[in-house]
Amino acid sequence: MSDFVRLCSKADLPEDGEAKEIPLGDKVICVANVNGTISAMDNVCLHRGGPLGQGVIADNKVVCPWHGWMWDPKTGQADHNPNVRVAVYPIKLEGDEVYVQL
Ligand code: FES
Repeated sequence: MSDFVRLCSKADLPEDGEAKEIPLGDKVICVANVNGTISAMDNVCLHRGGPLGQGVIADNKVVCPWHGWMWDPKTGQADHNPNVRVAVYPIKLEGDEVYVQL
């Protein structure tokens, strides 16, 4: 398993109730803030590749901006099909910095 790598500073995190795209190397991470809980998952929707970090939060899920598939940011599970999951990444906050484990 890989080590934690720095993702961003705490000041770059999304506000409560929002999601955000944060680039990391050649990837983009979808970081969501649901009721103050920060989570990180892959930014690419498994439907047609929509950018999840550009979506909104509804019912504690990240809603894909393209066709509305809903994703649980804690588990990566699709709302309509628990067998479909995007990758979720462990995230930790240390001091002013945010780290993820890819
Ligand atoms: S690409 Fe995400 S719902 Fe279609």
